[in-house]
Amino acid sequence: MNDLAPLLTPEGRALLDTVRDTAPADELAVATRLRREYPAELVSAALGQARLRQRAAVKFGAEDAGRMFFTPNGVEQSTRASVATYRAECFQALGVRSVADLCCGIGGDAIALARAGIRVLAVDRDPLTVAAARANAEALGLADLIEVREADVTDIDTSPYDAVFVDPGRRGGRGRIFDPEAYSPPLSWAVEAALKAPIGVLKIAPGIPHEAIPAEAEAEWISDSGDVKEAVLWFRPDGTPGARRSILLPSGAGIWASPDTMLPDPEVRPVGRYLYEPDGAVIRAHLVAEVAEDLGGGLIDATIAYVTADELHVTPYATAYEITDQLPFNVKKLKALLREREVGILTVKKRGSAVEPEELRRKVLPKPYGSRSATVFLTRVAGAPTMLVGAPA
Ligand SMILES: C[S@@+](CC[C@H](N)C(=O)[O-])C[C@H]1O[C@@H](n2cnc3c(N)ncnc32)[C@H](O)[C@@H]1O
Repeated sequence: MNDLAPLLTPEGRALLDTVRDTAPADELAVATRLRREYPAELVSAALGQARLRQRAAVKFGAEDAGRMFFTPNGVEQSTRASVATYRAECFQALGVRSVADLCCGIGGDAIALARAGIRVLAVDRDPLTVAAARANAEALGLADLIEVREADVTDIDTSPYDAVFVDPGRRGGRGRIFDPEAYSPPLSWAVEAALKAPIGVLKIAPGIPHEAIPAEAEAEWISDSGDVKEAVLWFRPDGTPGARRSILLPSGAGIWASPDTMLPDPEVRPVGRYLYEPDGAVIRAHLVAEVAEDLGGGLIDATIAYVTADELHVTPYATAYEITDQLPFNVKKLKALLREREVGILTVKKRGSAVEPEELRRKVLPKPYGSRSATVFLTRVAGAPTMLVGAPA
């Protein structure tokens, strides 16, 4: 079904309520039973929507997701509520009262903006996506604040708005798009639109090379529960062009550096008692030196983002491990060590190593040697392939 309308009728909504908790394994039986009462197409649309809602719960929470409407792409591409809420609060702090949300998808960002009391023009060119965004504004009681418009964003006059937010499509027929000029619309168009607005904000892929970031932008990398979710470029009049920030949700802890205060690469030093694995947002933002300074630490290798230090510090920006052993990369030696230490649970982490963690784990721990846990880091120390064994501190 490429139309949401039948699901928005009283009959469709009743059916959605009936199937909301259907487990995938029960779908066939449920469909067979319901087809006796409802049109087959409506039943499969409702079951499909229930499945999308279940998938969306990790992003939007079960309560909101259970009331919202999704398309398969819309679930994939939407901004999760934690990140969208953080961003809406940033807009709010800047005094923004209205936002043109260009490429609104099913409304992940628009919903958070409206909940922060911001008026939103939400634009998307895909009719089904627009229908979902509109249904979501309605379902969450935000229709007064969100105007949803089906249009190409390049045709929108954004001059009446305090800010422009662009979240371009970054998936094509063959999966993720890495070239920012292949985004829809292209990054260069989005940058121009952002620069025209009083405040312009662009969501981009976290892996964007720093050289591709326009000089006028402040760039921000956001992680949630340790996973990097997105990078965002901010163009604002009292910003600091060239600044870099990493934000760690849910705590909201952040590191910020301007081109004037950014630290040089940390020194390389021998592996000390502790190894710190910086959060991905810190690494992507190139702010490892700032964390290393806080920890009184250095790098284990000039090209690897693991920080080593002799002391244990509590930091939101990195996970600390106590290192007990350092060995050259050698599967047999690692196996012997794990046996000697009676390890039964092994976590394999890697940075700067081509080894496949699962494969290594099968080789070194074919069966549990005991009940202890260990973590092994496959990495390089001063250029040499190395294994560091330890445990979370
Ligand atoms: C990454 S998604 C947006 C997700 C949204 N921020 C959310 O949180 O739900 C990108 C959207 O851009 C839309 N899009 C791509 N090019 C467009 C264009 N030129 N005009 C309007 N919409 C466009 C796609 O249809 C897609 O829904």
